[in-house]
Amino acid sequence: MSLLEEIREKASKRGKSIVLPEGTEERTLLAIKDIVSKKIANPILLGNESDVKAAAAKVGADISGAEIIDPVKAAYFDDFVQAFYEMRKSKGVDLDKAKASMLDPLFFASMMVKMGKADGEVAGAENTTGNVLRPALQIIKTAPGISAVSGSFIVIVPDCAYGDNGTFVFADCAVTPVATAEQLAEFAKTSVETAVDLCGMKDPKVAMLSFSTKGSASHEVVDKMVNATNIAKERFPELKLDGELQADAAMVPKVGASKAPGSLVAGQANVLIFPDLQAGNIGYKLVQRLAKAEAIGPILQGLDKPVNDLSRGCSVEDVVNVVAMIAVKA
Ligand code: ACO
Repeated sequence: MSLLEEIREKASKRGKSIVLPEGTEERTLLAIKDIVSKKIANPILLGNESDVKAAAAKVGADISGAEIIDPVKAAYFDDFVQAFYEMRKSKGVDLDKAKASMLDPLFFASMMVKMGKADGEVAGAENTTGNVLRPALQIIKTAPGISAVSGSFIVIVPDCAYGDNGTFVFADCAVTPVATAEQLAEFAKTSVETAVDLCGMKDPKVAMLSFSTKGSASHEVVDKMVNATNIAKERFPELKLDGELQADAAMVPKVGASKAPGSLVAGQANVLIFPDLQAGNIGYKLVQRLAKAEAIGPILQGLDKPVNDLSRGCSVEDVVNVVAMIAVKA
């Protein structure tokens, strides 16, 4: 069974409600049939009911198993406006601005998750990553003890003996352009959660990546990875983690043994924390394109409740898979 099939199966045992705010978007509508028939989640589409039904009819989508909620007609719309106003008044949001925000399906969906009206949210087939993330960051916010959200990819490399039989978690590939050492340490923690919860990894081993291994080079950006390693070891002593390590020292047993002798992670890492977003985003795309790896994500990590972004180039199957991932995380 492939990893995605396993995730779908896990989701089918959870019975979670997932809100899809892009209620008239074609691939979202076409995904509903599989989400419902395979019991992956109970989908909620946002939008004006006749608009949603007309959009579904136009593309021949069976949405009979989905609940449709029109934000303005929802019994709790005014409560949401008031709650958003209370949350954001110190940021200059008045009641009119709060109402305008709640009329935006992306903000309304995040509020549904915050208020327990849905277990998770999936959006991004027609909105940018930033537009999906901003309401989640403002309303749902980060989990206790976590200050920054990151986006990981599960990278499955064919015919690869490294990592967890060729499976890795890479982060941050999607969210925080320049993370602090403290935030990089948190990415290690939340990436291990992804490795365990979604990949079913039994023995996650985290490498804090750099162009230096154990002091082989010196520069302020290397110091940052050394600090991130120390902070992670102190804050999350339960993690198997080491740094700073070059990518080969992290993954290749022989190189790890010679460059970082005695390390419990070097040569065996399966969770890779990149020093910044440029490195992480470039890194996963290189492996995806050059090694023909499957890259599943981005998986948003560190939010207090699960929300996930879709690529605007996503397929109907991608929507189904991301809904399954969020249902598993919920
Ligand atoms: N983690 C946690 N909270 C955050 C983060 C973060 N990484 N970034 C911002 N916030 C919080 C802020 O503190 C702020 O909270 P507050 O309003 O309560 O004080 C709130 O979120 C909004 O912050 P802004 O600064 O207004 O948001 P910004 O416009 O900077 O957007 C965003 C944040 C969306 C994460 C931005 O940094 C971004 O666009 N990142 C890159 C996304 C991207 O393009 N990724 C690559 C494409 S994806 C791919 O290729 C797979």
